[in-house]
Amino acid sequence: MKRIAVFTSGGDAPGMNACIRAVVRGAIYHDVEIYGIRYGYDGMIRGDIFKMNSHTVSNIVQKGGTILKSVRSKEFLTPAGRKKAFEQLQKFEIEGLVAIGGDGTFTGAGVFYDEYGLPTVGAPGTIDNDLFGTDYTIGFDTAVNTALEAIDKIRDTADSHDRVFFIEVMGRDSGYIAIQSGIGGGAEIVMVPETLTSIDDVIGTLKQGWDRDKTSSIVVIAEGDEEGTALEVAATVKEQLKGKDIRVTTLGHIQRGGRPSAADRILASRLGLGAVEGLINGQKNVAVGIVNDQLVYTHFREAISKEKPLNPDLIRMVNILSI
Ligand code: F6P
Repeated sequence: MKRIAVFTSGGDAPGMNACIRAVVRGAIYHDVEIYGIRYGYDGMIRGDIFKMNSHTVSNIVQKGGTILKSVRSKEFLTPAGRKKAFEQLQKFEIEGLVAIGGDGTFTGAGVFYDEYGLPTVGAPGTIDNDLFGTDYTIGFDTAVNTALEAIDKIRDTADSHDRVFFIEVMGRDSGYIAIQSGIGGGAEIVMVPETLTSIDDVIGTLKQGWDRDKTSSIVVIAEGDEEGTALEVAATVKEQLKGKDIRVTTLGHIQRGGRPSAADRILASRLGLGAVEGLINGQKNVAVGIVNDQLVYTHFREAISKEKPLNPDLIRMVNILSI
């Protein structure tokens, strides 16, 4: 393999730049030419492809976002879009790809491999941590710490005013950020898509706290919870707990930015190098991951479709520690 390309796609995640850096420097170390593709699959379709060198990735290990930019491509979902993308890659004589992103990115990479057979290794980059085949994804640790910092601040004001706060964190289909930031922030209740927590459960837990002389409470809710958004859940609770001082904070995209944590930089560097070396050693249609501190490669299909369930111990712990 003499020439490969790297791109980022889907929602950005802190640590993607550290991963790009590792891919670029790893390729150069192994005497492989490295190209960058801007704007993910859209850039591939347009031929927005450029040669990278070790200086192109200087001074980025500490930066959030992605220097290669990112999109959620609609055109790549179509066979015509993928054909254009393949033609562009052929023009640049690209022999392998490193795809940094989440489940949408890996789904696209898997379909593209099935159609055109271009060896591709994925590096899991998403704050959601919802990919099978790796204990943690790039960006998750930083996002949890960002959420935690916000929860700590909200707790100060919740405590001063004896209020109940509903704090919504990201996670469309997954409660990883919610459960970890909830435990770290001492939340009374954590609502995640993986388990059913009814409005009655929420009200019951809040009342139990008040019976034990608690004066303020924090409920952390994942955006994809089955009971609805934090605003919706809070409105329903308010209806039934008239007179209670209830507020809502939605953290939103603040969780996607910022300087990557040490853990994310190291994870991203390992995964980036693992992706390049995997490609060079003949891996083709897989995502690289770290499981129990070991580098592993998992077929794209499995990485996307297999469940990575929340640890039930964590869910149980929230209830015990919030008494
Ligand atoms: O997949 C990462 C993620 O941040 C999810 O947690 C969230 O639901 C989604 O992306 C938001 O996407 P967008 O940036 O397109 O609004």
